[in-house]
Amino acid sequence: MSLLDIREVTKSFGGVQALRGISFSVARDEIVGIMGANGAGKTTLFALIAGHSRPSNGEIVFDGQRLNGLRPDRVCRAGVARTFQIVRPLRGLTALENVSTAALFGATPAAGRKEAEERAVAILAQVGLSDHAAQMAGTLTLAAQKKLEVAKALATGPRVLLLDEVMAGLTPSEVEVMLDIVRDIKARYGLTVLIIEHVMRALMEISERIIVIHHGEKIAEGKPADIAKDADVQTAYLGKRGPGHRDRGGGP
Ligand SMILES: Nc1ncnc2c1ncn2[C@@H]1O[C@H](COP(=O)(O)OP(=O)(O)O)[C@@H](O)[C@H]1O
Ligand SMILES: [Mg+2]
Repeated sequence: MSLLDIREVTKSFGGVQALRGISFSVARDEIVGIMGANGAGKTTLFALIAGHSRPSNGEIVFDGQRLNGLRPDRVCRAGVARTFQIVRPLRGLTALENVSTAALFGATPAAGRKEAEERAVAILAQVGLSDHAAQMAGTLTLAAQKKLEVAKALATGPRVLLLDEVMAGLTPSEVEVMLDIVRDIKARYGLTVLIIEHVMRALMEISERIIVIHHGEKIAEGKPADIAKDADVQTAYLGKRGPGHRDRGGGP
């Protein structure tokens, strides 16, 4: 049975249709990758799931509960946490304070400051930030700020984690470290993960299934190896017209 259902979701911003009738399901424990060029609608999809924006049409159902219409704090309390593509730490607080603040909210809030801090210490260790616990978040390197985003989301005790380009701008070795972190926390907390990533190799490596969005439409869905071979995906990405290409009218 699926844990998260996206049903015919559409989102318009004035005249811009950012998403057009997107549907897919995510099973418990799955890692699903979301692929698509800049402006495809990926971040908009996460904003809709997390309650930062409302769908113009369609339904988002999490574990039998309709999420659309709920405020972000309600969605978070229901067990869905997201990271932001543009990192959003509380810059004047330390890494530890950022994560313990997050631990006071969400699906399984800590009972008080002490418990929140204990949880934050453990999570900082799991994402490799123990040495930076006392550092002001605003002074962390990009790689460390990306880890802090993951740590903050994790501290809310989610069942579903939405990761928006947590590897963007990182060096290849930093990407490897982040891949290990995502795998580790997924196993440790039994998470279901949706991951948007521009680093294609990383997305192919970590995802069990990939959904491709192009100009707000889902154009492909399948195993990474099949997605790499998909004619529509090649057309959308490389402008290639492989054998078996279906003319979608218009095109990129
Ligand atoms: N708040 C907004 N207001 C108006 N247009 C928006 C807003 N958010 C996103 N868009 C537009 O929706 C489209 C999809 O954006 P986005 O979801 O950020 O793409 P992606 O994350 O795939 O790069 C883009 O054309 C973008 O300009
Ligand atoms: Mg985006």
